[in-house]
Amino acid sequence: MADMDNFKEAESFGINTPQETTGFPLKGCNNLDWGMKNRLARIFGDDGKSLMLACDHGFIMGPTGGVERIDLSIVPLLKYADCLMCTRGILRSVIPPTANIPVCLRSDAGTSILTNLNDNVVIAAEEAVRVNASAMAVMIAVGDELMEAKTMANLYHTVDIGQKYGIPVMGVTAVGKQMARDAKYFRLATRMAAENGANIVKSYYVEEGFETVVASCPVPIVIAGGKKIPERDALDLAYRAMQAGAAGVDMGRNVFQSTNPAAMIQAVAGVIHGGLTPDAAYEMFQDLSK
Ligand code: R5P
Repeated sequence: MADMDNFKEAESFGINTPQETTGFPLKGCNNLDWGMKNRLARIFGDDGKSLMLACDHGFIMGPTGGVERIDLSIVPLLKYADCLMCTRGILRSVIPPTANIPVCLRSDAGTSILTNLNDNVVIAAEEAVRVNASAMAVMIAVGDELMEAKTMANLYHTVDIGQKYGIPVMGVTAVGKQMARDAKYFRLATRMAAENGANIVKSYYVEEGFETVVASCPVPIVIAGGKKIPERDALDLAYRAMQAGAAGVDMGRNVFQSTNPAAMIQAVAGVIHGGLTPDAAYEMFQDLSK
């Protein structure tokens, strides 16, 4: 029991200062529980935007270019990213727990690029808790006759886990091998992800009508970078996505396959958080590459 001697009477009631009732800066997330919001705030920060660094490619592709040695290529970039998206295998074997970066844990696993993509199952619920994940990511293959139902079940099962433990879920829209998708497709896929409980949705950027994808998805959208393209084009892609209302990027190859990944990730951050135009960001990339 607390010592009652010299007990200080309560007197600082701040009578004329109403308790602040703050909203939550992320779209569609105001009604979530404290733990969910706290984890989302770690990923999206004060400005509600995020540069997520994706390096989960090995779970379906093996050691593709740039992620052969994640200790050498990705770990030095962590200080520039707002969040790391990776598998539990890479997290435990390579990522220093002291890095103190929010983790979006790849939470489904299954087939490789050699067979039917996206024939995945969800990893054990407790894993995300054990590794202190700030979010869990699962793939959905909308429109894939073989895998659509299974991957949607993966998503809503993961949302059940997330709700139980207060961990947000990112629904990752898969494009499969054809890679030809338009705004109509992504409106459908991203909306399905959100309606089934995803708190964040990862989409691809499309040239025509991406703003309609963002507008009709009730939770934040981050874009994947996709295949490696020239740095100036990748910065332009990020800029246009942000202008259309995206909350950030979950970018992999266009960072770690860049001629200068450290310069590239800082230039992307300039677009996401600093509002840099593609020209200014590319200039930054070139300056940092000198
Ligand atoms: C796709 O499922 C993977 O989760 C990648 O993390 C994602 O595609 C982002 O990487 P990239 O920018 O290389 O497309």
